[in-house]
Amino acid sequence: MAFQGCNVINRRDNQRHTLKDTSMTELIQLAHLIAAIVWMGGMTFMLFALRPAVMAQMEPQPRLALMGAVWQRFFAVVAGAVVVLFTSGTSMYTALFRATRLATGQGGVPLGWNLMLIFGVAMMLVFGHIYFAGFRKFKRAVAAAAWPVAAQAAAQIHRLVVINFALGWLAIAAVRLVR
Ligand code: HEM
Repeated sequence: MAFQGCNVINRRDNQRHTLKDTSMTELIQLAHLIAAIVWMGGMTFMLFALRPAVMAQMEPQPRLALMGAVWQRFFAVVAGAVVVLFTSGTSMYTALFRATRLATGQGGVPLGWNLMLIFGVAMMLVFGHIYFAGFRKFKRAVAAAAWPVAAQAAAQIHRLVVINFALGWLAIAAVRLVR
């Protein structure tokens, strides 16, 4: 490896690591952060810009058709973000757990990390419910031109997105503020 042997200061703990070690950890953290920004940013846009605008400007039928097309694309992006968040999050979590077990004989992570794990997994379950229950019901209703049922499913999806938005900020506040 070309980078092996180069020493740099790790900004988080001020200890010396090889550049190779540091960049792998930082890449995982960066991937986690990017996926969180994509998911949280997407929900911010949907809740505060797209939805209020289409509710104010469009008739129900074209509005539901448009939201269906938007969700189809956005949920695919969220599914990718979920995979990245879960793999990077559990990798950071288990790395620290193992390191503390090696150092002290007992594994442990800050409470904020456990809260992030709980809120994060809850968000993923809620997303699964949005995708496999609400969105499926919505698509079936749109295909059958059952617009009142589609509107009901859309309202359910909206409520679950609001829940995930709140859980996301709780997770981020927990990992930043709770030691
Ligand atoms: C299985 C789920 C998850 C696990 C295990 C997990 C775990 C972690 C861990 C261990 C950290 C590192 C904290 C640090 O270095 O101080 C972290 C940071 C972070 N997580 Fe998660 N996470 C999960 C899901 C999520 C979700 C769903 C979001 C938001 C949508 C999120 C947003 C963030 C952000 C923004 C940070 C950076 C905080 C900072 O820079 O200090 N995570 N996560």
